[in-house]
Amino acid sequence: MSLSLDGKVAVVTGASTGLGRGIALALAARGACVVVGDLTTETRPGNFDDQAGTATADLIAQRGGKAVFRTCDVTDRAQVEGLIGEATKAFGRLDVLVNNAGVHRGGTRMHELTEDDLDACWRVLGKGTWFAAQEALKAFLAQGQGGSIINIVSTAGLRGHLYQSPYNMAKAAQANLTRCLALEYGVDNIRTNAICPTYLKTAMSRSGFSSSDYDDFVVHAVPLGRWGEVSDVASLAVFLASDEARFINGALIPVDGGETAGAAGGPR
Ligand SMILES: NC(=O)c1ccc[n+]([C@@H]2O[C@H](COP(=O)([O-])OP(=O)(O)OC[C@H]3O[C@@H](n4cnc5c(N)ncnc54)[C@H](O)[C@@H]3O)[C@@H](O)[C@H]2O)c1
Repeated sequence: MSLSLDGKVAVVTGASTGLGRGIALALAARGACVVVGDLTTETRPGNFDDQAGTATADLIAQRGGKAVFRTCDVTDRAQVEGLIGEATKAFGRLDVLVNNAGVHRGGTRMHELTEDDLDACWRVLGKGTWFAAQEALKAFLAQGQGGSIINIVSTAGLRGHLYQSPYNMAKAAQANLTRCLALEYGVDNIRTNAICPTYLKTAMSRSGFSSSDYDDFVVHAVPLGRWGEVSDVASLAVFLASDEARFINGALIPVDGGETAGAAGGPR
């Protein structure tokens, strides 16, 4: 099996830190040219990024790959148009979109959450994914050579979790948009799939990660008994971006150590 991405051009949203950064680095390591989109080039303090002092596009270049950074708030349609357009401007085409940018809200039961919590999740995860997919689809259709959209959903899009209702609601929307696009654009050889990770060691989950109670919860919720690593997820993104995944469309693939296989309670 060849997972070469030579000649392919990918856009990754939210790629300055966390999972998006890991995916951008992994795609570039396989030969893809990468457009890194995010609010800022900065990695965030206290995160778990490899070589956190170096911006993603610079790190790709240091490792011999090709990448450009473009500022993009995915909730702003004009900025998203600019981000997708950058692929053609910088590298001549677009083959892959990774909808990764995300925020999390929750921490309590739903009646105590605010409209801001709802809006934050909906705007970034719902509208942001919609905007980027729409612009990428236009580019793919104009090229006429297919394409691959990879939505970074979560097990939160496949099931309920306690105390994160706005996040789970928006993630379920991303999951179902994945299915709709798979149906509508398969005819154009544009594949749309979702990756659904469990709890990952990134800045997003930092508060939970530093609490021993939460750590214990994750270890028991995940049958493989550990948090997910960015690299566990990035390898699937590489595969879905590659031609080896040419007949995979509309799949929502858990990368979750078995979290969604069923209830993990009971004696270990
Ligand atoms: N961390 C987890 O446990 C986990 C589990 C499953 C799925 N996910 C999903 O993975 C994706 C990446 O999460 P992460 O854990 O790396 O989070 P993170 O907080 O470490 O990184 C998120 C990135 O998205 C960027 N971002 C936020 N709002 C944006 C906006 N409006 N426009 C552009 N970029 C924006 C941030 O600047 C940051 O670089 C998200 O969609 C998240 O929901 C995370």
